[in-house]
Amino acid sequence: MAKEVVLSGIRPTGFLHLGNYFGAMRNYVRMQDEYDCYFFVANWHSLTTHPDTRELGVAVNRVVAENIACGLDPDKVALYVQSDVPEIAELYLYLNMLSYKGELEKTTTFKEKVRLSPDNVNAGLLTYPVLQAADILIHRAVKVPVGKDQEQNMEMARNFAQRFNHRYGETFPMPYGFNYGGELVKILSLDGNGKMSKSENQLATLYLADEDEAIRKKIMKAKTDSGPTEPNAVKVDYIENLFTLMKIVSTSDVVKKFEDDFNGCSIRYGDMKKQLAEDMVNFIKPIREKAADLQNNKELLDRIKKQGADKARASANETIKLVRKAVLG
Ligand code: TRP
Repeated sequence: MAKEVVLSGIRPTGFLHLGNYFGAMRNYVRMQDEYDCYFFVANWHSLTTHPDTRELGVAVNRVVAENIACGLDPDKVALYVQSDVPEIAELYLYLNMLSYKGELEKTTTFKEKVRLSPDNVNAGLLTYPVLQAADILIHRAVKVPVGKDQEQNMEMARNFAQRFNHRYGETFPMPYGFNYGGELVKILSLDGNGKMSKSENQLATLYLADEDEAIRKKIMKAKTDSGPTEPNAVKVDYIENLFTLMKIVSTSDVVKKFEDDFNGCSIRYGDMKKQLAEDMVNFIKPIREKAADLQNNKELLDRIKKQGADKARASANETIKLVRKAVLG
């Protein structure tokens, strides 16, 4: 039986961080054996905010390199750059005929962007969900590993697919958000303010490109308090977060020791952070080094992008042929 198609897109903005790793990339890596996987860098989507051209190119390469460093295998999945697959733009055009100004203006992300940059309300921004639907439908994907913040975009993708099927005949299966084992591991910012972020509070975010010293410094500065005052206390979120990080990068013995110290009210956060910092350095260092090597090897990187684009275009081509026939007769 054919494997189900999984697809997800990553915007090439900012540096990838631990939150991305545990919220997304680690799951992609798990999916690559089980599904027919398409992962791509959404560089067309980035154009809505008019980024510097050179920086965009560098960011695209970094995202490709970091995803491979995290374990994505370009021989197993199609890892490609959106702009290398022109069939997506063609499908976007057809879907634009089925998407309405009113519904697009109502989406939360659009309203948010209008509020944040009222001087750049371009049509690309308005039709962002249409392009995202084209990304998904071009491979007739059914499983889309994304966070909760993408639920509305997913719902719109299903609406467009349904409208297309209704008007032109059954062409697309319905795509749904999907993640392994229910809840994703959420990584909070080290200052206790919200999630780790690509662009905000960089001193409280651990990036996959961080040098050893930066990792140590950030962890030693992580927010703590004077410690629990009663045995087996409930942990506040910024303390829980340190334990979450420790569970991810340290051995179970180490985690147990600090859990016991916490429950017995004898925990020394300074010691815990020192241990966490070293284990984190050992976790991030090989990823950082592999990604850096790859970014410096333009030839290999180009070959990987070409391999991904070829795979993606083979699949996109099959879909666009069906679509043309359905729409144009
Ligand atoms: N909008 C997504 C984000 O902000 C990125 C994205 C673009 C995407 N196209 C997609 C995600 C298709 C899943 C499927 O993260």
